[in-house]
Amino acid sequence: MENSPVPTERPAEADPRFALMDHAMGYLFPAALRAAAALGVADHLGTGPRPVAELAEEVGADPLNLYRTLRLLATRGIFAEDGTGRFALTAAAELLRTDVAGSFRSAILMLTDRTFWLTAGELEEAVRTGTSPFERLFGMPFFDHFARDADTAAVFHVGMAAMSDPENPVIARACDLPPEAVVVDVGGGHGGLLLSVLRDNPASHGVLFEQPHVLREHRLAELGADDRWTLATGDFFTEAPPGDVYLIKRILHDWDDERCVRILRNCREAVYDQGRVLVVDAVITQGNAPDPGKVIDLLMMSSLTGRERTRAEFEALFDQAGWRLTRVIPTGTRLSIVEGVPAT
Ligand SMILES: C[S@@+](CC[C@H](N)C(=O)[O-])C[C@H]1O[C@@H](n2cnc3c(N)ncnc32)[C@H](O)[C@@H]1O
Repeated sequence: MENSPVPTERPAEADPRFALMDHAMGYLFPAALRAAAALGVADHLGTGPRPVAELAEEVGADPLNLYRTLRLLATRGIFAEDGTGRFALTAAAELLRTDVAGSFRSAILMLTDRTFWLTAGELEEAVRTGTSPFERLFGMPFFDHFARDADTAAVFHVGMAAMSDPENPVIARACDLPPEAVVVDVGGGHGGLLLSVLRDNPASHGVLFEQPHVLREHRLAELGADDRWTLATGDFFTEAPPGDVYLIKRILHDWDDERCVRILRNCREAVYDQGRVLVVDAVITQGNAPDPGKVIDLLMMSSLTGRERTRAEFEALFDQAGWRLTRVIPTGTRLSIVEGVPAT
């Protein structure tokens, strides 16, 4: 009897049920990524490839289960197995190291934190009721939870700073700022965007406007002797410091329309003559193409009260808050700059 030829194609894979199965199990990849990041595996590979048994001992893991986890991550270029049970860093895995320039480990731990993970598991509730399950699960609103203590705060705010680091210099370059402007970064986190803006605009002054516990960890001192900045503690729902330009990055997407109008109106009331607002967020366009903005939109739905918006939706917010939308500036990142000037 002749041997049957080894099949070179897998026609069954054309059955769309296999694709649906893959979508349904997609959550296991971020689970593996979180486990590797949390265990600090990448920190133990800085000197070269290592046998998984050694790695497991150093990070305090079960060798077989660590192997299975890294094997999955290696299918998408995060770590690489050499065929003898040794794993090495790849360019992506390098960024999971804790103390390298551009480390993304804290961003991964933030994005896979239980505050996002558990609420995503309850997305159906948000879809049915129009409200996030966050308060039911965590007993308080999102930003109150992340103000509970220093360790909890660090999960979000250090992670958020790391997530914003790659986009901040690019966005700062795309901001078309008037000379000698007082630039207020509203909810500016640890100040990463303002750092880039001040470096690019030597005649500007920066104001980092944030909650007090977040300002305690700000990074503006990285400018050294250059002291063109001040800190402003406050609540953006009740006030804004005076300035020429209001940067509002990854803020409006956290909130419902009514609260966005309050933030924008406070800036409108405080802005100097000839000033402007630069809202930096994803701008959603129509169509079925993959769009990271539509992914993070569901994070806003499940953990917060906000959403990603279209240009028309930003225009409506601006109108209600006394601003006129002048243009949308693409930045080359996933975010655009939505510019407004005071409506006359
Ligand atoms: C999603 S983060 C964005 C941080 C930063 N703009 C960035 O792009 O990396 C939202 C920020 O809003 C700040 N925030 C939340 N509620 C606030 C309030 N009522 N007043 C001032 N800042 C607030 C948080 O502390 C947090 O840093």
